[in-house]
Amino acid sequence: MRRPLVVANWKMNGSKQTNSQWLQEFAGLWQGQQNAEVAVCPPAVYLAQLQQALAGQAVLLGAQDVSAAESGAYTGEISAAMLSEFNCRYAIVGHSERREYHAESNAQVAAKFVAAQAQGLVPLLCIGETLAQREAGETLAVVGEQLRAVAKLAGVEAMTRSVIAYEPVWAIGTGLTASPEQAQEVHAFIRQQLGGVAQDVRVLYGGSVKPGSAVELFAQQDIDGALVGGASLNSKDFYDICRAAQ
Ligand code: PGA
Repeated sequence: MRRPLVVANWKMNGSKQTNSQWLQEFAGLWQGQQNAEVAVCPPAVYLAQLQQALAGQAVLLGAQDVSAAESGAYTGEISAAMLSEFNCRYAIVGHSERREYHAESNAQVAAKFVAAQAQGLVPLLCIGETLAQREAGETLAVVGEQLRAVAKLAGVEAMTRSVIAYEPVWAIGTGLTASPEQAQEVHAFIRQQLGGVAQDVRVLYGGSVKPGSAVELFAQQDIDGALVGGASLNSKDFYDICRAAQ
């Protein structure tokens, strides 16, 4: 059985004050009912704050990105070893905003995936097609290629120590969610691509997940949870999504 996982991706949002309020509210709601696993990925400068606030709680920490390099002259980058020091369990790699605004290639994403695992982090690999690619009928080809680039460098067995998030780019931050059937189709394809290790890898859905859409998405056979952006900024909405994954 794959344990459901719900991950908050705060992106470039928050402040010490609003983080602290969120953490207090969420901790008041999420106590004990822990069939689902929950993680929060804040901006890196707040990792220390969250590490402290989450000590002893059933909420894990993750990073929004990680460097492919181990250390050295890489201004602005943060290494996997540094993230480990703040108790990060997860590191998002290949988010579409990194692929688009920072021109990250499949090869770079694969290198980040490997760097994260080398320090014991679990990479949360984001893959997904743009609207133009979907309309051109290229969804499965694009997603397959993004997946293969990583499996080729890291090895298929390494995929068992990762989480995959299918995030159609056209659904991120747009209010458009893939229908449960559209998402399930791609999730089933991803699982099929994983071959022998397919049943051991959690595949999350991401893209405008809201409390109202979560239940139906999570009811799909191959959807093991969600990566949540906008709705994760509201502690109650995020809690409702976590509860739907129970
Ligand atoms: P969204 O973001 O929920 O705001 O669409 C999801 C993501 O980018 O991970």
